[in-house]
Amino acid sequence: MSKWVRAHTNIALIKYWGKENEDLIIPKNNSLSLTLDAFYTDTSVTFDDALTEDELILDGDKQDARILNKVQRVLDEVRTLAGLESKARIESINHVPTAAGLASSASGLAALAGAASQAAGLDLSDQELSKLARIGSGSASRSIFGGFAEWLKGQDHDSSYAVPVDDAQWDIGMLFIIVNDAKKDVSSRDGMKRTVETSPFYDGWLKSLDADLSAIKQAVSDRDIEQVGQIAERNALKMHATTLGASPPFTYWTAESMKAMDAVRALRKLGYTAYFTMDAGPNVKIICRQSDLSALKQELSKTFEDKQLIAAKPGPGLHVLN
Ligand code: ADP
Ligand code: DP6
Ligand code: CO
Repeated sequence: MSKWVRAHTNIALIKYWGKENEDLIIPKNNSLSLTLDAFYTDTSVTFDDALTEDELILDGDKQDARILNKVQRVLDEVRTLAGLESKARIESINHVPTAAGLASSASGLAALAGAASQAAGLDLSDQELSKLARIGSGSASRSIFGGFAEWLKGQDHDSSYAVPVDDAQWDIGMLFIIVNDAKKDVSSRDGMKRTVETSPFYDGWLKSLDADLSAIKQAVSDRDIEQVGQIAERNALKMHATTLGASPPFTYWTAESMKAMDAVRALRKLGYTAYFTMDAGPNVKIICRQSDLSALKQELSKTFEDKQLIAAKPGPGLHVLN
């Protein structure tokens, strides 16, 4: 059995939304994220000749073939790299709601890359781990690193991986408004595929990304949280606009998401630095100063229940637990 390995979730400020190569998970564009301390996955892997099939026990429940499929991409690559043939038993605990737009695939598949390579006796570099996590779920490539990370799109398996950009040891945090933690109807994978294939807005989204990416990298290096927030909020709105043009059209937003976005705008009117981002799910994440987290929570508790509000700080990269 491998040691338990922990990976934290990350939330993209410049989104990954669309694949150039679906099989290898090569994205259409570079993305940039912040890894967070509040949500994470712990995973342990055992390769065992006595097993006849790979199995995944997630939060105590044996998972079906559809979910196993994603993890087998990572397991197969590890088996190839290590020259192993045995099947694997994976045990994983999500300290994050699964498939709710809170990035469980990022922490889940990054923790798996770490645990499986460890169990196979491989000593992989962060770059190799990032590539391995990527073939399980694109966003997982970024969860190898703490702080801000950029996933360089590359053009093949060897050139598509994330790199650390900034350790985020400054006054930045994220406040989550959980409006619904149930499993989403349209997975990230299906949602982005439908958008790439059918949305006339997709080209406009892609064309706008270089400018967003270079501006946010400058803002991060200047530690200019107003700029970081503004750019991230606009980027998220553009991404979500593409889904409305898809056929059939869809949106991850609900009435509660709109209420949360309005609440963030109200925080700005009060003078706070507060900008939102959203992923493939209805939940809203507020980019803010770490030093404002308690005050913002207090302010938002007038509109939302305390249990809906989760404060997060920048989190660490992939690591083995003792
Ligand atoms: P999310 O917004 O949570 O990232 P996705 O649709 O991208 O939602 O991915 C959810 C899927 O990620 C799950 O259905 C499962 O296939 C996979 N996943 C999540 N957590 C784990 C885990 N701990 N181990 C293995 N696979 C996981
Ligand atoms: C909206 O990484 O979950 O959260 O690569 O198909 O597993 P797959 O998708 P996933 O997509 C994440 C999409 C996003 C934006 C982001 O995290 O960059
Ligand atoms: Co995901």
